[in-house]
Amino acid sequence: MLVTSIRDVKNYEGKEVVIKGWLYNKRSSGKIAFLQLRDGTGFIQGVVVKNDVPEEAFNLSKELTQESSVEITGIVRKDDRAPSGYELTVTNVVLVSMSYDYPITLKEHGVEFLMDLRHLWMRAPRQHAILTIRANINRAIREFLDGEGFILVEPPIITANSCEGTTNLFELDYFGQKAYLSQTGQLYNEAAAMAFGKVYSFGPTFRAEKSKTRRHLNEFWMIEPEMAYFTHEDNMRLQERMIEFIVQKVIERCSRELKSLNRDIGKLENVRAPFPRITYDEAVDMLNNGGYAFEWGNDFGAPDETYIAEQFEKPVFVEKYPAKVKAFYMEPDPDNPDLVLNADLLAPEGYGEIIGGSQRIHDHDLLLKKIHEEKLPVEAYQWYLDLRKYGTVPHSGFGLGLERTVAWICGIDHVRETIPFARTLTRVTP
Ligand code: 4AD
Ligand code: MG
Repeated sequence: MLVTSIRDVKNYEGKEVVIKGWLYNKRSSGKIAFLQLRDGTGFIQGVVVKNDVPEEAFNLSKELTQESSVEITGIVRKDDRAPSGYELTVTNVVLVSMSYDYPITLKEHGVEFLMDLRHLWMRAPRQHAILTIRANINRAIREFLDGEGFILVEPPIITANSCEGTTNLFELDYFGQKAYLSQTGQLYNEAAAMAFGKVYSFGPTFRAEKSKTRRHLNEFWMIEPEMAYFTHEDNMRLQERMIEFIVQKVIERCSRELKSLNRDIGKLENVRAPFPRITYDEAVDMLNNGGYAFEWGNDFGAPDETYIAEQFEKPVFVEKYPAKVKAFYMEPDPDNPDLVLNADLLAPEGYGEIIGGSQRIHDHDLLLKKIHEEKLPVEAYQWYLDLRKYGTVPHSGFGLGLERTVAWICGIDHVRETIPFARTLTRVTP
């Protein structure tokens, strides 16, 4: 018997196939049962007619409970009303395992209840759509960077260095020595860029942020390209091309998932390079003219970012922040050394900063001075300073936050649904 997946039934119209999956929902009356099946690749309806299947199979169809695992045999029929475009005329049903009292019924549940059951909630169509889009964003990122000749590198997760400030480090005892879970792979990527030219890392990063917002996780995934000989300008050009590529690939490959999330695809189609750019100074004026009392020299909060992004239809770069609100490693602006050659990319529709990037300081003495000013332990940065001693060159890079990107592209409210198992201030299980 031909075993296939729901995704591939389109290749077998009129043929009898076996689908191995789970019962998502069921309706039955008298001599007919409608089984909503899922198999991980999609959802399909199987129609069981009493006289067309063995008696045990029909009885089983009536007994099957939500999330029971089954192997269903049926003939593939085209059905334009079905979301998948196909339906199965069932010829047999075999039980793999009966599921008892599945806790997530098809009525509405509260989010905390669902997060407690995340190991099961992942099976629901909405969650399935979001995580499918996440996987396709991952794929598009890798395709883009591999296609541009980048080398994938793996920075360590346990590190003695802080990079994005010392206040949000997860500290651990490394055989009696102080170590941290990595906030970013950047410092190591800079070493790798000097060895390979263009590199990127793609891994989990950790921030012990006590923020309870819809944009913050304590463990999140970052894509961090780092490029030798790239200026701040080159850096932004690469970012906008990469974001355009990702968004257009997702539209092409995940239109069904986007529609199921009611995403306005027109807004995504509009995401084409080049993106608008404003300076930090211009953003401050924009806020003040818009009625926000924002003082020059502060960092933007979520409502500020939302207001700025709302003035544009595409993602917008905000560049040249005051050095004192940004990390120690950013190259000063030659026109005004109080500013740095950085840019944050703000997503449209209120999703806030999805990319933080900058040109890096490549002068040894200036970098050392910044390390002292930030009161960072110089010994731990000796290797990083070495990069400025042996053939230092201007270089730049950025970090794209995967979960915020997924939330934006999916058009959903909260990052907790964009990662299989979210780690937030109040949640470390399941
Ligand atoms: O702006 P950040 O802190 O930049 C860095 O870590 C740089 N070292 C990256 C680099 O240049 N290689 O973080 C980068 C991005 C943010 O724009 C945001 O999208 C995401 O990472 N991010 C978070 N996402 C979810 N939860 C959090 N707590 C996040 N913190 C940052
Ligand atoms: Mg940032």
